[in-house]
Amino acid sequence: MATIEVRGLTKRFGRVVAVEGLSFAVAPGRVTGFLGPNGAGKTTTLRIILGLVKPTAGTALVDGVPYRELPFPKRSVGAVLEATSFYPSRSARDHLRVLCAMAGLASGRADEVLAMVGLTDVARRRAGGFSLGMRQRLELAGALLGDPGVLVLDEPANGLDPQGIAWLRSFLRWYAGLGRAVLISSHLLSEAAQTVDDVVIVAGGRLVASAPVSELTGRFPVSVRIRSPEAQRLVGVLSAAGLRGHYESNDVVVAEGTTTEAVGPLLAANSVVVQEMAAVGGTLEDAFLALTGQYYQLANQPSGQYQPPGQYQPPGQYQPPGQYQPPGQYQPPGQYQPPGQLGSQPGRDGSVPPSGSGTGSVGGMP
Ligand SMILES: Nc1ncnc2c1ncn2[C@@H]1O[C@H](COP(=O)(O)OP(=O)(O)O)[C@@H](O)[C@H]1O
Ligand SMILES: [Mg+2]
Repeated sequence: MATIEVRGLTKRFGRVVAVEGLSFAVAPGRVTGFLGPNGAGKTTTLRIILGLVKPTAGTALVDGVPYRELPFPKRSVGAVLEATSFYPSRSARDHLRVLCAMAGLASGRADEVLAMVGLTDVARRRAGGFSLGMRQRLELAGALLGDPGVLVLDEPANGLDPQGIAWLRSFLRWYAGLGRAVLISSHLLSEAAQTVDDVVIVAGGRLVASAPVSELTGRFPVSVRIRSPEAQRLVGVLSAAGLRGHYESNDVVVAEGTTTEAVGPLLAANSVVVQEMAAVGGTLEDAFLALTGQYYQLANQPSGQYQPPGQYQPPGQYQPPGQYQPPGQYQPPGQYQPPGQLGSQPGRDGSVPPSGSGTGSVGGMP
């Protein structure tokens, strides 16, 4: 039984089509990630589900009815859409008590939800002095007041530190474990992949995929990471074979949406020297790429900035080889410690180039 059901949803703002023909369902007892690049139509869809925006066409049902027809909306669905305002001088507890009064709930519920989000110790402190992470927990507490069967959070991880994200992750798992439905949006596919059971992926207002994460990541080819002293020729061979990808560094190329089984024979046939080759990924980005043909930019970048498929970034934009540690400075082999004691030997890892070589970038973007 679906707790949220979106059918044929379309929303136009003038000439802008924010959502087009979108259909998906959210199951209870699971965390569903509503994922896609910025501008994909996620917030618009969530606002329609919550009765805040009227769709141009289609329906969005919560527990089988449109939001506005729910007998007790706060008990059916709790939501945190975007930074709401607090009276800065009001304590966290008083803020929630006001919300209780507005929703016709007993004021004692405020302390219960404060405990659920771990804010009991600061219940009497002014919300205006809260850190971003504490404010987000307070907003979450507000969404939980009605003990809702459905929790909807729009980009809840934005601005949270790793600790905050880890806490949120375990909280959402716990809440779904109570048999509730959790729907969270995110433009960061990889981050959300660790949190959610199911994904609904959108791009340009349209559905890209709707499936359990494991099913989706297993459905598509992985990427292949290749280290070669003739990377430029390697890229030529890959491009000629219709494969797209990006440089990870001067001598490392990642071919996307393919397999080592496909790439190996191709490079052998073209006599490309290979020093390393490994399958990587099987990630949601790979699935997104395979489904849309777009390169998904992980960083916080507006959607227009994807690297176009087929275009390898020229090696010149990476750190020139001369800045790597020259071979002469490595410790000569004779000075290594005998096996078993290698771990403590400084310079053992001297073959690693200094940081900043571009290996941490995604999509070949420096
Ligand atoms: N009130 C609005 N008026 C006009 N355009 C809007 C409005 N709300 C959203 N849009 C547009 O609809 C598209 C989808 O936006 P949004 O739902 O916020 O995407 P997301 O949350 O996935 O980033 C964007 O192109 C956005 O500019
Ligand atoms: Mg949004």
